[in-house]
Amino acid sequence: MDKKEELPLVLITHALPGEWLSSLEGKCRTLIGPAEGNRFPEELLDALQDTEGILALLVDKIDEPILKAAPKLRVVSNFAVGVDNVDIAACTRRGIPVGNTPGILTNATADLTLALMLAAARKLPQATRDARDGKWKSWAPAGWLGLELSGAVLGIVGMGKIGSAVARRAAGFGMSIVYTNLIPYPEIEVSLGARRVSLDELLAISDIVSLHVPLTDETRRMMDADAFLKMRPGAILVNVARGPVVDMDALYSALSHGTIAAAALDVTDPEPLPPDHPLYALPNCLIVPHIGSATDKTRSKMAEIACDNLLAGLRGAKLPFCVNPEVIA
Ligand code: GLV
Repeated sequence: MDKKEELPLVLITHALPGEWLSSLEGKCRTLIGPAEGNRFPEELLDALQDTEGILALLVDKIDEPILKAAPKLRVVSNFAVGVDNVDIAACTRRGIPVGNTPGILTNATADLTLALMLAAARKLPQATRDARDGKWKSWAPAGWLGLELSGAVLGIVGMGKIGSAVARRAAGFGMSIVYTNLIPYPEIEVSLGARRVSLDELLAISDIVSLHVPLTDETRRMMDADAFLKMRPGAILVNVARGPVVDMDALYSALSHGTIAAAALDVTDPEPLPPDHPLYALPNCLIVPHIGSATDKTRSKMAEIACDNLLAGLRGAKLPFCVNPEVIA
């Protein structure tokens, strides 16, 4: 048998820059899916039968039907920190370790959060649109008045790695910080004077509410019509977490009725948000296409970790970053 034939077969669900995959050379055979797509590619389904590893993007549902079709699967490596696209319990039942890429995208995502906060607070979407549309007639003493971050209250929902990186940056802008989290984050309390509060209190007192929770049964549609009613009328919502944490219809209604002042979204439900979605027409809603981790440095490091996780799983070794480490133990 040809030596190459003996190497384990790995599915890379969507095409990635070749140099990102160089560490896989000589260690596995790869079948690579299309560059674009929002689901597990149909053209790879037949190959699942012989597949031993999958390098998945966050758009690929790795669920029961996929796992059932892949009896030889030994590792799922997700090119993301969030793993809500993977049925972790089903993988664990089958003894399949699931890798992710935590830590490395913290700074890039926290930077984007600040960019969104500043853009929404200073009405950049409206201001650029108005300048382009000829509405910039003169220097306007009372035009495009925004919110100053200094002295404003930032409510961080979910104080993990990204939430705390956002808190540190926001403190540099002179914001005061409140947060919700299952457990206290003493370092942020001591160094930044942040205060842990209930979600209701956070919604009631924050000028900007920034979401940093994973998508789970508890957080799905956490920001619904009731939650928007609890926010301040001048408040801004920022979502860099996962789209379904926010009820998009309720958000549209809150923005168009002035229940809240503005929103800035890196994630939406669904993704991509269709170009004719009514939220795009609102001048107080800024939407970018899920680019939280999109810097050269971060994405190539994510690829490196995803490949390391994949190769470790193929060797039967502990994954450098594993969300269900109990399967290896
Ligand atoms: C991006 O959203 C990620 O989870 O890595």
